[in-house]
Amino acid sequence: MISRRSPIGVFDSGVGGISVLRILRHDMPNEDYIFYGDSINAPYGDKSEERIREMCDDSIRFLFDHGAKAIVIACNTATSAAATYLREKYKDAIIVAMEPAVKPAVDKAVNAYPHVLVLATNSTIHGERLHHLIGRFSENADIYPVAAPGIVPLVEAGKENSPEIDAYLKDLLQPFRKKEDGGGGQIVDSVVLGCTHFPFVTDRISEALGYDVIFHDGAYGTSRETRRRLREADLLTDSTTPGKVELYSTAQTPDPTALAKRLLDLPFNYSP
Ligand code: DGL
Repeated sequence: MISRRSPIGVFDSGVGGISVLRILRHDMPNEDYIFYGDSINAPYGDKSEERIREMCDDSIRFLFDHGAKAIVIACNTATSAAATYLREKYKDAIIVAMEPAVKPAVDKAVNAYPHVLVLATNSTIHGERLHHLIGRFSENADIYPVAAPGIVPLVEAGKENSPEIDAYLKDLLQPFRKKEDGGGGQIVDSVVLGCTHFPFVTDRISEALGYDVIFHDGAYGTSRETRRRLREADLLTDSTTPGKVELYSTAQTPDPTALAKRLLDLPFNYSP
C-alpha cells in the first residue's frame, strides 16, 4: 500500500539517471528515493525498442516491489522506446518520463533564430518521439540532432573526465567547431543534453566545441512534473526531515553502487 511516505522510484539504463536524481533531491529534499541502474544492460541506446521495453518493465517491477509511489523514467532512450507502453501497462501508476529539452532551448534562446545541437543516443536520435519534437520547433530554430553513442560507455566506466572522452568528443563535434579551430564552422548557441549520462560531461563538451554554449537538461522539467503529479495525487511527503536514497544496480562489480554514489555527490550548478 503506497502512502505519502513511500519512496519515489527512479530508473535508468545505468548511472546516467543520477543526474536526474540529484535535481529531484534538490527540488524535493524530504522525499525518499530508490534508484535502480540497469548497468549490466547499458547502453540501451543501441538496442531494439522491443528489448528496451522488456528491460524497462523489469526495472519498473523492481521499483514497485520496493514500494515506489511514483516512477521517474530517468532515461531519454527508455522514454522514447517504452513510455507509451509502460503507461498503458501500468494505467493507475504515476509514471513521469524524460524529454530532451528542445522546447526550453528554443523558447529561452537569446537569439531570435537559435542554432541548437541535440545530443542523444542512437535510439533517441532515430526515434519517432524526437522527430516529432524537433518538427514542432524547426520553424523557429536550426536544430541539429547528433547521435553520441560513445559517451555512455565511458561514463559507465567512470571516465567522464578522461583523454578518451576528449578524443571522442573532439572528433564527433568537429563540424561545430570554429573554422579557425579546424572545425566545420557550424556554430551553435546551445546544446540539449538528450541523454541523462551527458550532464556529467558538459565541461568536456564545451572544451571540444572551443566556445561557450548554454546547456539544456530535461531533468528540471521532469522534476517539476514529478512534483506536480505527486501534489495532484496528494502523495507529496509530509516528512520535514531530509529523505534517504537507496541505490541499486544490476552491475556485478564488488561495489556496484560506488560510481553512482560518487556521481551523486559531484558538485553541480543548479540552473532551472
Ligand atoms: N541515459 C540514457 C538516456 O537518457 C540511456 C543511455 C544508454 O543506455 O544508451 O538516454
